[in-house]
Parts: sequence; structure tokens; C-alpha cells
Amino acid sequence: MTDNAPHDIRMHETAGIAVRKLRLAWGETVLLDNVSFEVSPGSWTCLLGESGVGKSTLLRTIAGLIDPIGPTKISSHDGSALRGRVAYMAQQDLLLPWLSAIDNVALGARLRGEPVDHCRARNILERTGVAERANALPAEMSGGERQRVALARTLMEERPIVLMDEPFSALDAITRIRLQDLAVDLLSHRTVLMVTHDPFEALRLADGVFILRSPGNEQARELPDMPIVPPGIVPRDPTDPALRNVHQAIMCALGGKSGMGRAA
Ligand SMILES: Nc1ncnc2c1ncn2[C@@H]1O[C@H](COP(=O)(O)OP(=O)(O)O)[C@@H](O)[C@H]1O
Ligand SMILES: [Mg+2]
Repeated sequence: MTDNAPHDIRMHETAGIAVRKLRLAWGETVLLDNVSFEVSPGSWTCLLGESGVGKSTLLRTIAGLIDPIGPTKISSHDGSALRGRVAYMAQQDLLLPWLSAIDNVALGARLRGEPVDHCRARNILERTGVAERANALPAEMSGGERQRVALARTLMEERPIVLMDEPFSALDAITRIRLQDLAVDLLSHRTVLMVTHDPFEALRLADGVFILRSPGNEQARELPDMPIVPPGIVPRDPTDPALRNVHQAIMCALGGKSGMGRAA
């Protein structure tokens, strides 16, 4: 899914993300306050944080689906608007159940009233490995196939920035690794901001990792301006001993006492 700006911004345009003094609240309840961070053009950044801290809300705000409040400023890295540059993949795959895989991939163009490039849609389904499922309905597909179609729909939009909300969390371990590798391959050169609850997934995929904390948390800290940067080239082996220190740093920042265990 994307915002509904004119579809004339193509992939040759690079864009990063700059979030300044972000404030998120539902009514009186402040989720995040004074959060600032940047995602460099062409990099893959993971956002971690305990359940309910506001990761999905933050992503939807950057996608333009929620209006920011207070002094919040969200732009591209050079200060220009993000509008028209963002593709958003929601936490649930959000495939329309009555549309076939290929029609789901072409949904953005249909919603904008543009002619659908079926040839391109089929090509992208081929690249995501589900061309033979082009005419299947979501209910007829496995979880992995549905996520491949959702990824294909994101690629179909040709936006330089891709926001993904826990895109692999519902998948079994092997399918998850396959889809992660596929995404690394297909999204190279794009700017990716991905929410995950899994430090190992962040270690496998991210150029940089940010930890979100709620302002009500006793250990609350503002989101640091600088990300945690794991060494090595993605996709990494998250069990590589060289990553142990980074894993510990992430677990500490999440509020865990040791280098083991889950954040939420
Ligand atoms: N549309 C909404 N209206 C009111 N509260 C919401 C809405 N969406 C999410 N929330 C609340 O905001 C908080 C953060 O939600 P969310 O961003 O989904 O967290 P996370 O993705 O980090 O688990 C939760 O307490 C959730 O219940
Ligand atoms: Mg969420």
C-alpha cells in the first residue's frame, strides 16, 4: 500500500528519512516524545522496541497514514517531502481476499485509476518466486506465499523508500530466512525502515538498529540520534560470535539484563 500521491517518482531518485522531534499520542496517552533519527538513502534500518511502544504507529505516521502532532517534522534526508516516495507494507499482509495474487500486486495502480501493467506485475511475481500462484486467491496460499505477494506489491510501486512492519514474523524459521534473503536481494538500493521485535532478525538484516522506548519507561531514553551498527555484510549469520557484543548492546538497550532472551 502507498500514499496516494502522483505515481511519477521513480527509482533513480534516492531518498532517506529524517524524523525530528517526533511526538506520538492517542488522545491523552503519549506514546513517544521528542524522538529524532535519520535513515540514510539506500540503507536498511531496523526499529526494535517492546510490544506496544508505538513501532507500528511510528511507521504509519512516516507512511502518511497518521498526521504527526506537536513539533514533529518528517521529511526526506534533504528536507524535501516524503509524499509519493514511500511504499508501506503493513504488519498483516493486507491482501484483499477477493482478488487474485496478480490483482493484489496491481492494486495500487487500480486504486489510482491508472492502467495496470500486467506484464510487469507478472515479472515481479516471478522475481518473488510465486508466478505460478498468479491466479490464486489469498485463502488458497500459504503464509510464505502471501508474504511473497505482499512483497511483490511493495516492489510494484517503485518507491525509493520501503517501510515494513514485522513482515516476516508470522513465518516459520526456514521460510523467514528465505524471505529475508529475497528481500535483501530485491530491495537493495532502496531505503528500508523495518519494524521487528526480533533482535536476531535486526542483526541479520540491518545496517543500523534503533531502539524505541516509551517516555513512561523508567529507563526511558530518547531514541538516540546514532544507530547501533552491526559489523559485516548483510544478510549476516546472527549467531556469528563477532556479533555477540552488538547483540548484548541491543538487549541492554531493550531493557534485558543479559545477552540472551527476548525483549517483549
Ligand atoms: N487507532 C488507535 N487508536 C488508539 N490507540 C491505538 C491505535 N492504534 C494503536 N493504539 C495503541 O497505541 C499503542 C502502540 O501501538 P503500536 O504502535 O501498534 O505498538 P507496537 O507496534 O510497538 O507494538 C498501543 O497501546 C495500542 O493499543
Ligand atoms: Mg506493531
